[in-house]
Amino acid sequence: MRCPPAWQLRLLPPWGPAAPGRLLPVACVWAPAGRAPGSLSPLAGLRPARLWGAGQALLGGFGAPRRWRSCCWGGGLGGSRGGAGLARLLGLWAPAPGRCGAFAGPGAPRLPRAGFPGRPAATAWAGSEAWRRGPAAPPGDDRRLRPAAAGLSEARKLLGLAYPERWRLAAAVGFLTMSSVISMSAPFFLGKIIDVIYTNPTVDYSDNLTRLCLGLSGVFLCGAAANAIRVYLMQTSGQRIVNRLRTSLFSSILRQEVAFFDKTRTGELINRLSSDTALLGRSVTENLSDGLRAGAQASVGVSMMFFVSPNLATFVLSLVPPVSIIAVIYGRYLRKLTKVTQDSLAQATQLAEERIGNVRTVRAFGKEMTEIEKYASKVDYVMQLARKEAFARAGFFGATGLSGNLIVLSVLYKGGLLMGSAHMTVGELSSFLMYAFWVGVSIGGLSSFYSELMKGLGAGARLWELLEREPKLPFNEGVILNEKSFQGALEFKNVHFTYPARPDVPIFQDFSLSIPSGSVTALVGPSGSGKSTVLSLLLRLYDPVSGTISLDGHDIRQLNPVWLRSKIGTVSQEPILFSGSIAENIAYGADNPSSVTDEQVQRVAEVANAVAFIRNFPQGFNTVVGEKGVLLSGGQKQRIAIARALLKGDSSGERIPKFFS
Ligand SMILES: Nc1ncnc2c1ncn2[C@@H]1O[C@H](COP(=O)(O)OP(=O)(O)OP(=O)(O)O)[C@@H](O)[C@H]1O
Ligand SMILES: [Mg+2]
Repeated sequence: MRCPPAWQLRLLPPWGPAAPGRLLPVACVWAPAGRAPGSLSPLAGLRPARLWGAGQALLGGFGAPRRWRSCCWGGGLGGSRGGAGLARLLGLWAPAPGRCGAFAGPGAPRLPRAGFPGRPAATAWAGSEAWRRGPAAPPGDDRRLRPAAAGLSEARKLLGLAYPERWRLAAAVGFLTMSSVISMSAPFFLGKIIDVIYTNPTVDYSDNLTRLCLGLSGVFLCGAAANAIRVYLMQTSGQRIVNRLRTSLFSSILRQEVAFFDKTRTGELINRLSSDTALLGRSVTENLSDGLRAGAQASVGVSMMFFVSPNLATFVLSLVPPVSIIAVIYGRYLRKLTKVTQDSLAQATQLAEERIGNVRTVRAFGKEMTEIEKYASKVDYVMQLARKEAFARAGFFGATGLSGNLIVLSVLYKGGLLMGSAHMTVGELSSFLMYAFWVGVSIGGLSSFYSELMKGLGAGARLWELLEREPKLPFNEGVILNEKSFQGALEFKNVHFTYPARPDVPIFQDFSLSIPSGSVTALVGPSGSGKSTVLSLLLRLYDPVSGTISLDGHDIRQLNPVWLRSKIGTVSQEPILFSGSIAENIAYGADNPSSVTDEQVQRVAEVANAVAFIRNFPQGFNTVVGEKGVLLSGGQKQRIAIARALLKGDSSGERIPKFFS
């Protein structure tokens, strides 16, 4: 342990340290099996271990001795309010009175002490994969400002997102082609009409004109219908892509090891989930659709320009390359800028999320104005970046607009000369101009497509990192022990541990602890001495740097973590509830919350001594608890958390170890 010897985390101290009125941090492990109290031989229990660890938060308000009693239901000390409630747990799990070896007074046998031989920290964690990961990049890290890892591969990933929607998108492209062909054929036929008007003013000229116009109206109607269907198909598949992207990202985030969350801030992840996915989604959906449309129209327009007048078309297209060079430079700049903007936005969201989430603390310390200033400065930085983007955008669109107009002007000039030399009719020049106009509009569409695509790629860089990140600890793989022979004996052997976020601060050095099946154990030590860390290691939220932790003789690294955690009930020091009703929060502890009956919820609530206050609420079990349970008192939250832990494993709550930390 990191603490000086006088502060060593001790197991099973006598009553002495728990002076009345003093908060004594305690972590308590309960493993009731059909064994004598305090029996120490490991792996010898007959029934599943039950583990409890009680921290000061759990027991706060009852005074130190009561706190001790609360852990010691079997010791006949459960006279307090909390103790009485918890003592009823004994009825549920039935350890015999007086079996509370950890708390049975000075005469109780003591479990082995944690060992702290004081091996140097460096040797303790040398070679550990955990510390080699290194600390998170600080907010100002210049890696954030590096241009996005460019490339085709990212564009391919972006298109890969659209792959599951290929059939819908193919249909949309079909309708797109139809509507584009129709609208692009219009200038050709309109040119023909103009030629008819100029060259053939016969008697039935108005009849011909009416027929031609009516025919064309019908064709345009078909084009409009095809366009409407295309928009619908593109929009719906777009939303499906965004949904899938969000779900995959959320799933990838939730699979990460706990150390990842020590380093990554919630607000940043929320921003990735909301803003970045929307940006990325837009770039493969609406944007892709508009881009395809613009691309199709531009290529048909160019073909038609060649068809109408190859001479003039060649002249016009020679003006295109300089515009493309501007577009490429702009696109690269925009992608880099978007990445930095999204990162800064994530920082602003992080600040807002944290401060709004803890508004009571902000209010209590009167820090509203300071926080507003901090947020304003973050948002101002986003504004500066947005201004840069606006500047680049203004230049780019100004340049493309100007080149579009210059192209049209040069078409008129060159076309006028060709008409003068009788190489072109007025109808052909009109058609050509209309096609040139279409191509100009389409190139405008293509440039927005390109700039949105670059923005998508910029936002995507961080998303791919998150989506493709492999969790450092396995998520749901490994050995599952036979339920029937499962005993629940625990052993920590020569464990060295440092938290990955602080690799140079050793928490445990050569820590050993044996908790036999069928015993109640308390870990006692000063604040920060590592009691909760023991639970984190047991839950395999972190892996030790060296040494082993075993359950029934099996190294927990070999066990399936999901299974392992399903066998351990926990009530944390600061229990967090989810916004929802009390009943929903209690049912959350069960493997399948939807199958939990009202009776089961009530039963565990009774056992956790929560029914009295729940009944006092007008809505009873349907009372909404607010975000993180903010509408309840600390003690009420703890009782609901206890009830929730009781439902873990199976609905009767009878077969799993429990921890209080
Ligand atoms: N996620 C973390 N990353 C880095 N260090 C941590 C982390 N969690 C806890 N620590 C550090 O590890 C040490 C042990 O913490 P732990 O929570 O186990 O103490 P504890 O004995 O449960 O204390 P308390 O009685 O106050 O609950 C402390 O110094 C703490 O600052
Ligand atoms: Mg703790």
